[in-house]
Amino acid sequence: MQNKSLNYDPSIFDHASIEGAKEIVLTTESGISTQTRWDTETPWLLNLIGKHIIKPSGLVVDYGCGVGRLAGPLVDQGYSVIGVDASSSMRQHATNLIASERFMAMTPATLEQLVGIGIKADFVLAIWVLQHCFDLDAEVGRIYKTLNKGGIVGVADMRHRAVPTNQGWCDDGRDVKETLSRFFMPIQQYPYNPPSAPKGLQGSAYVAFFQKNR
Ligand SMILES: C[S@@+](CC[C@H](N)C(=O)[O-])C[C@H]1O[C@@H](n2cnc3c(N)ncnc32)[C@H](O)[C@@H]1O
Repeated sequence: MQNKSLNYDPSIFDHASIEGAKEIVLTTESGISTQTRWDTETPWLLNLIGKHIIKPSGLVVDYGCGVGRLAGPLVDQGYSVIGVDASSSMRQHATNLIASERFMAMTPATLEQLVGIGIKADFVLAIWVLQHCFDLDAEVGRIYKTLNKGGIVGVADMRHRAVPTNQGWCDDGRDVKETLSRFFMPIQQYPYNPPSAPKGLQGSAYVAFFQKNR
């Protein structure tokens, strides 16, 4: 992605309408619509997340929160959630959708400033986001710095990368799980098999949890 013709281009994540944004957050796959995926995958993921949140009153960071699909229910469960997203329109949609004093949306740079003054999270979620990040090591390093020692990071991703470029999605060959394993201790992995899982994602996606132990 360093030559002149292929450039990182995250503008695909900018959508003025909430419906357009939802379709980017959860694309229609193998004929399974955005709405069906939202209705079936979301509770399935929340159930797995619930098994791994170790501190009931802890601070959650939803890294790449999109429109707040997972942050919203976590706020409803009583958690305070910081939604972090690189896209200003996603941050705006999440703020509109969640509208709770226990939620705020911010940029990765602002999160880094908070971490710099000692604010840390107990649980970081990164659902369908690390596969899309341009500088994987930098983003995983930021998540590492964001977590308290003993904290958990929960990830859902494809086994291949899909970095947005001016020529479409690009697989740069980087390995998200291997990168996470250099920073964190793997604790549990699940096959991606929510009800109505799109066939194209079964076998090519996973959910995994890691712990910060140093
Ligand atoms: C496929 S969506 C998933 C959204 C949400 N996690 C969900 O599952 O509903 C990916 C999100 O990650 C955000 N994103 C992409 N690259 C990012 C980065 N480097 N830092 C923070 N957010 C990023 C996008 O703007 C988008 O909202």
